[in-house]
Amino acid sequence: MPTHLQSATVPALQPTYAPYPFPILRGEGDRVFDDQGNTYFDFYGGHCVCSTGHSHPKVAAAIARQAKELIFYSTAADLPIRTQAAEGLIQFANSDQPSGLASVFFCNSGAEANENALKVAAKLTGRTRFAAFQGGWHGRTTLALSVTDDPKITVGLESFLAPCDRLPLNDLAALEAFDFSGTAAVILEPVQSMSGIRPAAPEFLRALRARTQAAGCMLIFDEVQTGVGRLGHPYVAGLHGVQPDLVTSAKGIASGVPMGALLLSGAVAAAVKSGDLGSTFGGGPLACAALLATLQVILEEGLMSKALILEDMIRQGLKGTCVAEVLGTGLLLGLKVPGGAAKLKAHLMKQRILVGGSGDPEVLRLMPPLNLSLVAVSALLDAVHSFKQGN
Ligand SMILES: Cc1ncc(COP(=O)(O)O)c(C=O)c1O
Repeated sequence: MPTHLQSATVPALQPTYAPYPFPILRGEGDRVFDDQGNTYFDFYGGHCVCSTGHSHPKVAAAIARQAKELIFYSTAADLPIRTQAAEGLIQFANSDQPSGLASVFFCNSGAEANENALKVAAKLTGRTRFAAFQGGWHGRTTLALSVTDDPKITVGLESFLAPCDRLPLNDLAALEAFDFSGTAAVILEPVQSMSGIRPAAPEFLRALRARTQAAGCMLIFDEVQTGVGRLGHPYVAGLHGVQPDLVTSAKGIASGVPMGALLLSGAVAAAVKSGDLGSTFGGGPLACAALLATLQVILEEGLMSKALILEDMIRQGLKGTCVAEVLGTGLLLGLKVPGGAAKLKAHLMKQRILVGGSGDPEVLRLMPPLNLSLVAVSALLDAVHSFKQGN
């Protein structure tokens, strides 16, 4: 052990984020419950994860059913449920526009999906540089961290990171001026979440696709937050006439059962050799059952169109409040509060409404379950209306 480290009494659970001041014991739909029986409306969605709400009965039943059949077998065996999950996800990704996505590699998290997307791009292009955007956030594994613009989590690790050029988002002139000829892949969140809900403009996405295509560079959409219906469409891939080469998905894909997915275009999938991608737990039966049930609930309950209706209600309802602007689309929204959002966040917490902060001190994030109730929306709107600046 290095000599500057000293033994100390520490909690059994290593701290990560500063947690809420109460434990959560149970969840149901858009609500969670603490140990005192208090109810909270969850506009944070367990960090954009609980797409179908907490413990949706159909998702819980599918997991329980699968657990009785087979909890796990690795990719050493063909599992019908894994094939069904891949086919179901590809069908979903192409259900309202052709996305160009044709094949899936299942893994366990957003970072792992991005790690593999970047690895595939490097292998298939033979190039070793990446490009990403200022404010982009892609995860904590080595290649994902290389393309993430968050110095506080990369400090001390710089020598392990792959070279990455960072472009300004939505800057067409900078895009035109950049030379992509040595770049394996450009990775982009179609809506930057962590940095404060900053959407990429459709014309910027189209120009990016044209420039990368011409330079033989892959385009990766990190749809870890924007995917699985959250923006009112299955994925951003395919919208605005833009088909990326690779798309990564995680968070809400299996309603909270850990799962990541790398979706590949037909041309990319055909070039990846068997054995290039692998994961022990990726595409495990429980996660696949949860994914299939999640997609079924999203489609059966019309949650994508509902997300757009709820967005509109939130936008209209926040007019005339301290929220100067609502950023984003569907149920990935940013509330811009000039002068600072932390006080509004604290006020909402007192009203038992959970929201997310962001890297922008003026922006709070809403990423609730897609089956958010009208009761929850009115509670949010009432709570924001009752907030007085300077509280
Ligand atoms: C856009 C985006 N990409 C990747 C990740 C990493 O996902 P995970 O925490 O599942 O590794 C996150 C996590 O917040 C994210 O927001």
